[in-house]
Amino acid sequence: MIVPIHLENSSDIKYNVVIDTLPELTFNRKVAIVTNTTVSELHLEHLKSKISADELYVVTVEDGEEFKTLATVEAILNKLFEAKLDRKSLLIALGGGVVGDMTGFTASIYQRGIGFVQVPTTLLSQVDASVGGKTGVNSAYGKNLIGAFYQPEAVYIDTNFLKTLPKREFAAGIAEIIKMAVMFDRDYFDFLVDADFSDRKSLEKVIRRSVELKAEVVNLDEKESGIRAVLNYGHTFGHVIENETNYTTYLHGEAVAIGMMMANALAVELGLMEQNQMDEVEKFLKKHQLPTSYNISNVDSFYDKFFLDKKASNNRLKFILPKGLGGHTIRDDIDEETLKRVLYKFVK
Ligand SMILES: NC(=O)c1ccc[n+]([C@@H]2O[C@H](COP(=O)([O-])OP(=O)(O)OC[C@H]3O[C@@H](n4cnc5c(N)ncnc54)[C@H](O)[C@@H]3O)[C@@H](O)[C@H]2O)c1
Ligand SMILES: [Zn+2]
Repeated sequence: MIVPIHLENSSDIKYNVVIDTLPELTFNRKVAIVTNTTVSELHLEHLKSKISADELYVVTVEDGEEFKTLATVEAILNKLFEAKLDRKSLLIALGGGVVGDMTGFTASIYQRGIGFVQVPTTLLSQVDASVGGKTGVNSAYGKNLIGAFYQPEAVYIDTNFLKTLPKREFAAGIAEIIKMAVMFDRDYFDFLVDADFSDRKSLEKVIRRSVELKAEVVNLDEKESGIRAVLNYGHTFGHVIENETNYTTYLHGEAVAIGMMMANALAVELGLMEQNQMDEVEKFLKKHQLPTSYNISNVDSFYDKFFLDKKASNNRLKFILPKGLGGHTIRDDIDEETLKRVLYKFVK
């Protein structure tokens, strides 16, 4: 199946997200695949067997968020210069969100911009990172602070890649999926509750709806001046949890799962969500082995860390909250006392 993306409100860019077995791909240009050491072992040969290009190169980077840096981007750029890629050449990102974000950013600056294609190999990157054109790397000052909005020419989502993905990584992707459902689509939520994620056809349907919803949001607000921020549901809390646990205890999606529970608790406190709806979300997360609780050891310092988030503009905290199941609201008027009252519920 194909999900056409058309950013008609901003850049007028069109591309397809193809959700299917990876097709044969022919390019009358030079192509460089960018991947990492883990994914290259598992899936590079398969990708190469599907590609015919004028010349085909492979650039392999180290595996890990800690390598999502300008230094790695420069190393990739140098390989592209050595291979004499020109302005018509193409990069193909083969990997998860880290490889995808870095490859897209490299494509955006190599000789002022060349094309790139995403072949996402984690569930998280298939439903979230590979669509929408946010590319970039981390800086010493924070995650994803260096980058560009730069859309791919195409995205090829093949769920066969996920067979080698560790279970925890798979579940982390499910967290970003339920995020979309809770924010935007009650029917999708109901569908997810019963979906069999191990069945290829159901999984493709799940991915398709997630991609469609993300595409709608990105079309309305490519550069995140409004509704695109709704995709950060659970993230304001999640980022604090990731920060407090030094990015080692939880995968990003796991921290987001806990963050969604905190956002839901706040929504219940404000009368935006029913307790039983919050329970439904929790049940779903637990079913998929995602964490739903966290012991806040110090409410004051947890609260202070909200202000480290780049989304806290002018020192006003902005919270993306559910309105029931399938609706959302953005609130920047929540007082410290209310917030801390909710945070205390997470003190064991
Ligand atoms: N651009 C966006 O809109 C956007 C959205 C969400 C997240 N992100 C970014 O994405 C990154 C997280 O992405 P991720 O969760 O895919 O992490 P990741 O890219 O680090 O991949 C997770 C792990 O799985 C391994 N892996 C990848 N595919 C595999 C496979 N098929 N089989 C076995 N192992 C495999 C990777 O090597 C890595 O060790 C973060 O850097 C985040 O900032 C970007
Ligand atoms: Zn996320």
